[in-house]
Amino acid sequence: MKRLQDRVTLVTGSSSGIGAAVAESMAAEGAKVVVNYARSSKGAEAVVEKIKAFGGDAIAVQADVSQEDQVKNMFQKVIDTYGTIDVLVNNAGLQKDANLVDMTLEQWNKVIDVNLTGQFLCAREAAKEFIRRGVTPEKSCAAGVIICMSSVHEVIPWAGHCNYAASKGGVMLFMQSIAQELAAYKIRINSIAPGAIKTPINKEAWETPEAEAELLKLIPYNRVGVPEDIGKAAVWLASDEAEYVHGTTIFVDGGMTLYPGFATGG
Ligand code: BGC
Repeated sequence: MKRLQDRVTLVTGSSSGIGAAVAESMAAEGAKVVVNYARSSKGAEAVVEKIKAFGGDAIAVQADVSQEDQVKNMFQKVIDTYGTIDVLVNNAGLQKDANLVDMTLEQWNKVIDVNLTGQFLCAREAAKEFIRRGVTPEKSCAAGVIICMSSVHEVIPWAGHCNYAASKGGVMLFMQSIAQELAAYKIRINSIAPGAIKTPINKEAWETPEAEAELLKLIPYNRVGVPEDIGKAAVWLASDEAEYVHGTTIFVDGGMTLYPGFATGG
């Protein structure tokens, strides 16, 4: 039996990057995967095709996670298709970078709406279904699992990205608060905090050898992460192997949070 056999798993923002790798890793472990996308139906369909090609089960569902009606419709579609939901990966996220004095309210709101409010809207719908259904012992000892995709920037301040850092700092206390609230229902909730992972969101930081060399100064392990690094962590966290892991953040960052500047200074 695979580690996530038959667990219905919704991965928001999984038409590319970390979300796509998480969707594929979950499907490879037997999960039935809902590949959510806001705009890129082509990307989402490609992920679904890749999953089907190795014998997995997946569908693509459109929804902008910052829109309450679209989130509700997406959960209805998931339940209509697969009967329930077992795992939510709150992954959808974006950056709209600007220095504070140049940042528009639109840039601020967009990042908070998608990265933080989107996690709230999806977690709320998932939790309702987990509480309604309870534990299905053949599938898992948890009544449901939520994984919030955070960032090293839930603890590392980031000049020029205050909207993004605020959204991820918010995700940290959101996750911990709902973990405290829902533990009694056997709903397990944790975050993954990726460091620099090679995806479209941070292409500028690794696409040239010079940029990559600069980036590596921030990574003691001396390698930029790849989406599969996060896929593996997500599979483990969703599985019963992580049964007693609750309300915490797993940093998957090659040591980025170790204050690498202090390796020689201080
Ligand atoms: C950001 C990336 C950045 C990484 C490390 C992530 O959360 O989205 O742009 O490279 O953190 O700073």
